[in-house]
Order: sequence, then structure tokens, then C-alpha cells
Amino acid sequence: MSSISGIQFTEVSLNEKETLAQWLSSDEWDNFSNSSISFEKAVGWIERGGLHGDDKKTFWIEVGSQSKVGLIQLYDLLDSTAMFDIRINTSHRGVGIGRKAVSWLTNFAFENYTEITRLEANTRQDNVAMRKVLLSCGYVKEAHYRAGWKTGESPLDWVDSVAYAILRYDWANCTTTSVFWDDEKSFTSS
Ligand SMILES: CC(C)(COP(=O)(O)OP(=O)(O)OC[C@H]1O[C@@H](n2cnc3c(N)ncnc32)[C@H](O)[C@@H]1OP(=O)(O)O)[C@@H](O)C(=O)NCCC(=O)NCCS
Repeated sequence: MSSISGIQFTEVSLNEKETLAQWLSSDEWDNFSNSSISFEKAVGWIERGGLHGDDKKTFWIEVGSQSKVGLIQLYDLLDSTAMFDIRINTSHRGVGIGRKAVSWLTNFAFENYTEITRLEANTRQDNVAMRKVLLSCGYVKEAHYRAGWKTGESPLDWVDSVAYAILRYDWANCTTTSVFWDDEKSFTSS
């Protein structure tokens, strides 16, 4: 893995609407429901509040001399469980940026939003890169949704999805609380 020097996270301003729309429309976003997005659609999404608001924050991921290589979106910030999405440019995937970004975002959310008790991310079951990033940042798999991710019009096209989360308690104490999967034993006979 190449080393990444000078990674920075800068909050996206609404004044950058066109830059952001241009950036979103200039790459392919595997594992998102809309893997490609036109400039016009991106502008519409931004104008409808998709990336800015009281309950969300969006950051550029920049490397080197402020070159924009990714975007990380934190949302549901007024709930006890906040969620996030991340996109890294195709040209910059697989060199450790995702891991650094999720680690930074986890610290940012817990340090700045004291009401948040959990941070959660959902992805496709076959998104190995994202799952590895989440595991390496202390997230624990909490759910496996059968046919939970729409990839086409036929229900047969739907793929499984998975959910990972990290607890504030674990983040603060550098611990890992396991999921209590066997709780049905207490009320079912063998
Ligand atoms: C998923 C994503 C955020 C991961 O970020 P990244 O910077 O590419 O990931 P990293 O370089 O930190 O790599 C994490 C791990 O995944 C592995 N990996 C990277 N790309 C991979 C791929 N295509 N297939 C399998 N493993 C992959 C890396 O080797 C690394 O493994 P390691 O822990 O054994 O070293 C990024 O690839 C991306 O933006 N993908 C498209 C959008 C997306 O899927 N977003 C998440 C939607 S919820």
C-alpha cells in the first residue's frame, strides 16, 4: 500500500455547488444506487439539501496540494445513531484513503456531537473494500439483510446488504462489544 501524505478534510461549502456537482458527475460510484450522476442531477440534489443542512455535514477528502480525491457525508446528526457515506475517486482507491477518512470521521462525529451514541454505515455485501475499511476502523457487523440492496427491476437482481456500527463506548475505551446473536435460545426450544 502506498503511503498517503498530507490527507486533509475540508467542509464543503454551499458556494461550491458547481465544483461539487462537477466532481460528482466526473466519476463512477460503484455500490451507490445511482452509480453515475449527471451534472444537472447533482446540482438538483445539492439544491434540495442532499449534502447540507442542520443534520448533515459533507467534507472533501484532499491529498497533496488540496487535490480533491473523495467526499465523505455524515448525516442523521440529530439522531442518536448518525450515518455516513464515502466516495473515493476511482484513480485513488486501494491506497488507504478510505481507512484514514473513516477513522477521521469517526473521531470528528463523536468529538463534536455528544448526543450521538452510535455511528453506522450500510453497504452491499460484495463491497469488500468498504467492509475491510469498516472492520479496520473498529466497526462491527450488526446486520445482514437478505436481498436488501436493489440492483435492478427484478427482485432476483437484488443483492444482500450489510450494516456495521461503532458504539461511542467502544470508541472511547478502545474496546469492541460483540453482537449478542444467540439471544433467541432463551425463548425457543432446541
Ligand atoms: C469503498 C471505498 C470507500 C474504500 O476506500 P479505499 O480508499 O479504496 O480503501 P482502502 O485503500 O483504505 O482499502 C481498504 C481495504 O480494502 C482493500 N480493497 C480496496 N479495493 C478493493 C477491491 N476492489 N476489492 C477488494 N478489496 C479491496 C484494500 O486492499 C484494503 O485491504 P487491507 O485492509 O487488507 O489492506 C472506495 O473504494 C470507494 O469509494 N468505492 C466506491 C464507492 C463506495 O463503495 N463507497 C462506499 C459505499 S457505502
